[in-house]
Amino acid sequence: MDYDVTTWLNLGLRWLHVIAGVAWIGASFYFVWLDNNLRPPVPEKEGVKGELWAVHGGGFYHSQKYLTAPAHMPDHLHWFKWEAYTTWLSGFALLIVLYYVGAPVYLIDASKHAFSQAGAIATGLAFIFGGLAVYEGLCRSPLGDRPRLFGMVWFLVLTGAAYALTHLFSDRGAFIHVGAIIGTCMVGNVFLVIIPNQRRIVADMLAGRPVDPRLGAMGKQRSVHNTHMTLPVIFIMISNHYPAVTGHHLAWLLLALISAGGVSIRYFFILRHHGIIKPGYIFAGVMLVFFVSVIASHKPKAAQAMSDVPFPVAQAIVQKHCVTCHSAVPTHKGFTAPPNGAAFDTPAGMARYAGKIRERAVDSTSMPLGNETHITDEERAQLGAWIEAGAKTP
Ligand code: HEC
Repeated sequence: MDYDVTTWLNLGLRWLHVIAGVAWIGASFYFVWLDNNLRPPVPEKEGVKGELWAVHGGGFYHSQKYLTAPAHMPDHLHWFKWEAYTTWLSGFALLIVLYYVGAPVYLIDASKHAFSQAGAIATGLAFIFGGLAVYEGLCRSPLGDRPRLFGMVWFLVLTGAAYALTHLFSDRGAFIHVGAIIGTCMVGNVFLVIIPNQRRIVADMLAGRPVDPRLGAMGKQRSVHNTHMTLPVIFIMISNHYPAVTGHHLAWLLLALISAGGVSIRYFFILRHHGIIKPGYIFAGVMLVFFVSVIASHKPKAAQAMSDVPFPVAQAIVQKHCVTCHSAVPTHKGFTAPPNGAAFDTPAGMARYAGKIRERAVDSTSMPLGNETHITDEERAQLGAWIEAGAKTP
């Protein structure tokens, strides 16, 4: 039996990560919505700040939010935290299995920086936990009390990290690390602030001590940050499917624009919960993403300048740079089957995938993976010219 542990571990962890992420973000969206939709109870109720009636799945629900806490601690109190923790733990495990164990293939791009495996891993971890330290420092500084300014500074810090990472790691390795910084800060908010503060509030209540309102305010600040970071982090997690973005030479800028668009769209919905409709935020968000699509579609002209490139030349390039992985039986030790089923070891395979080959190896530099084989710009242009002329095979 030829059991490929990495593949199945990858499948299990990714599945878990997506499910936990859906549960976490779903609960988080729900609570932001709930909080923003609370209305003062009529008639007034002692200690109750707001309430909401809702109907769902054949029943009526009545939620109430207390000013600090109810007079009596309920026997059964649900803490929302394992959705967040499971998302982070499964995501981190996936990062290790895919990008750290598989660093030579997925993380290191020797044409950007010739890391050793240990060096690449240490750098990745330094970005993730360094990012968390910077974020915590900013939140606790006076900047933490000025939400808009804080947002701008944190956005610039992340964009700086994206710039550095896209110049150090493979395209997808860079993006996943930006996502890991944001995701770690978001889970850190739950683990380091929201839950501990909530515990202190409960303990003070039970002991009959006055509850410090700053504890709740700090939790609220972090939960507001989390909701703004949601759309960007989700984009990053699926960005692997969009090499036109990740493989662009200005990928860090495209990521910044898309993220700004995501924050703007999220902000529209937050305002709408309060009954404030400002379509400008949706419009701005969509325009930013559209703007990115225009930038990313601006193709280099190299392919057109090249004269006819005959099939054997294109085939030789693909043989040299692609088929170790992309063949029915790969010889690359990291692969037991052609990635995504894409095999170019036959002329028919090359013709069938011509469009995608252009997307991944000509218009962007996302292939060969990590440029292990050191393909040259000239070879990319030659491939492009062969495809441009109709990807003819004998
Ligand atoms: C070291 C192994 C490796 C080499 C070498 C390599 N690739 Fe890939 N390729 C992958 C992996 C892994 C994937 C799947 C992950 C992804 O989409 O990024 C992939 C995906 C692709 C896809 C997307 C297929 C689809 O249908 O989604 C294309 C197209 C592609 N590669 C083209 C190329 C070309 C062209 C070359 C040579 C210039 C090349 N690759 C070299 C590993 C490799």
